[in-house]
Amino acid sequence: MTLWGGRFSEPTDDDLRALNDSIGFDRHMFRQDIAGSIAYAQAIARAGIITAAEAEVLVKGLRSVLAEFESGTFALQPADEDIHTAVERRLTELVGSVGGKLHTGRSRNDQVATDFRLWTLDALAELDGRIAALQSALIAQAEQHILTLMPGYTHLQPAQPITAAHWLLSFFWMLARDRDRLADAHRRAAVSPLGAGALAGTPFAVDRDQLAHDLGLTSVTQNSLDAVSDRDFVAESLFVMALLGTHLSRLGEDIVLYSNPQFGYITLNDRYSTGSSLMPQKRNADPMELARGKAGRLIGNLTGLLTTLKGLPTAYNKDLQEDKEALFDSFDTLTRLLPVVTAIIRTLRLNADRMRAALGEDLLATDLADYLVRRGLPFRQAHHAVGQLVRLAAEQGSALSRLPLEVLRSVSDLFEADVAQVFNFESSVSQRRATGGTAPDAVRAQLEAAHRWMDDHPDVHPAQTPLVNLNESGEP
Ligand code: ARG
Repeated sequence: MTLWGGRFSEPTDDDLRALNDSIGFDRHMFRQDIAGSIAYAQAIARAGIITAAEAEVLVKGLRSVLAEFESGTFALQPADEDIHTAVERRLTELVGSVGGKLHTGRSRNDQVATDFRLWTLDALAELDGRIAALQSALIAQAEQHILTLMPGYTHLQPAQPITAAHWLLSFFWMLARDRDRLADAHRRAAVSPLGAGALAGTPFAVDRDQLAHDLGLTSVTQNSLDAVSDRDFVAESLFVMALLGTHLSRLGEDIVLYSNPQFGYITLNDRYSTGSSLMPQKRNADPMELARGKAGRLIGNLTGLLTTLKGLPTAYNKDLQEDKEALFDSFDTLTRLLPVVTAIIRTLRLNADRMRAALGEDLLATDLADYLVRRGLPFRQAHHAVGQLVRLAAEQGSALSRLPLEVLRSVSDLFEADVAQVFNFESSVSQRRATGGTAPDAVRAQLEAAHRWMDDHPDVHPAQTPLVNLNESGEP
C-alpha cells in the first residue's frame, strides 16, 4: 500500500512505479531514516501528540526494523516505494496501528531532506579519513626523497631540477584544501529541516531544536520552503568530490607518465600494476588511469545535479529525488579509488638513478642567468645572453658547461672562471630555500608544516548518525 492511496480509485501503473520508486537506491539510508524517526517519535511525545507509552512502542518497533536491515533479513514488499514507506510499513506490521501515528506533522519532504543530510554527514566523515590516509602516504614517501633530484616540468618540457619530495608534497596540499572544503560542506550540511512539514511548517508543538540536537545536528532551518528544497549540501559535497577527483586525476596523469619506461622515474608495485592479455612485456598503470578517468563521472554527477536544480519552482519537486544516486555514486567511486591510490603511493618505488640521468644541463639555464644577475645584470638582459649561449651550444653540439669561457664572455664580460660552479644540480636546488621552494632545507620545513597540518586536522572518524535511546534517557 502506498502512503497516499486514499485519493485514488485505481492502483498505480507498473511502469510508473518502476520510474517513480526510489527504494532501489534510497534503502542505503535506512539507518538515517530510522534514526530520524526515533528522534521524531520522541519529539511528538514531548509535544503531547502521542503518549510516552506509544513513543516507547514506536521506538522499540523502529529498533526491530533497524535490526532487520542490519542483519539483512528485512523483506522488501512490492509496494515499498521508498525507504520512508518501507520503514513505516514494516513498523506498522510490527506494532499495529500506533505505527500510523509516527508521521503526524511530518512529510516525506522534510523527512528525506533530513535523512539525506544525515547520510551526507556520515559520508563526508568517512571520506575525510580516507583522504587523510593518502596524505600520510604522501608524507611518508616524501620523507624518503628529500635529496632525490628529478627534472621539474612546465608545459611538460624539462624546466628546472626539483626534489622528488617536493613533487610528492604538491599533492599533499591539494588534499589539504580538499579536506578544508569538506569540513566546510560538513558544517553547512549539519542543519535540521525536520519540522518543516511538506512546505509550510508543522502545526504541532515539536521542539525542533531538541530534535536537531538529538540527531547530532547543530541548528535548524529558518524557512520551511527552503528547508524542503535546499540541496546545496548535495551540490557542495559533489563539488568537493569532483575537485578531489580532479586532483587524483592529475596525480594519476603524473604517475602514468613517470612510470612509462621512457621516463622510468617510478615503478608501481606489482600488486597495483596490470598487464596486457596480448603483449607479455606490458606493465600498465590501470589504477591511475582509472583515477584520471573517474574524474569524468565525478564532474558529471556535479553538473547533472546543478542542471536538475536550476529550473525548479519553489519547495519540493520530485526532480529532487535525482540527488541521491549522484551523491551515492560519487561517494562509492571515491571510497573505491582512494584506498588503491593510497596503497600505490605507499608502495611506489622511485628510481633515483633514472631521475638523475634525465637531468639535462639545460635545466640549469635559469641558474646561469641568475649568475649574471648576481653580478649586476638586469634579469631581462641575463635571460637574453644565456639564450644566446644555449643556441650556440646547440649549434656546436656542445653541452652548455663545455662552452669555453671566451665564448661565455663573448655574450657577457661578467662571466668569470667561477661560473663552473653553476653547473651543479644540487646547488641549483639547494638555493631555492625560500618558504615553499624545492631546496631540501625548505622541503624539510614543508614536511614539518605538513605534519603540523595533520596534527591540526585529526581525521573525523565515521561518526554514525546517533540513534536516540529512549531506554537510556527514560521518559521522553
Ligand atoms: N523518494 C523521495 C525523494 O527522494 C522522497 C520524498 C517524496 N516526497 C513526495 N512529496 N513525493 O525525494
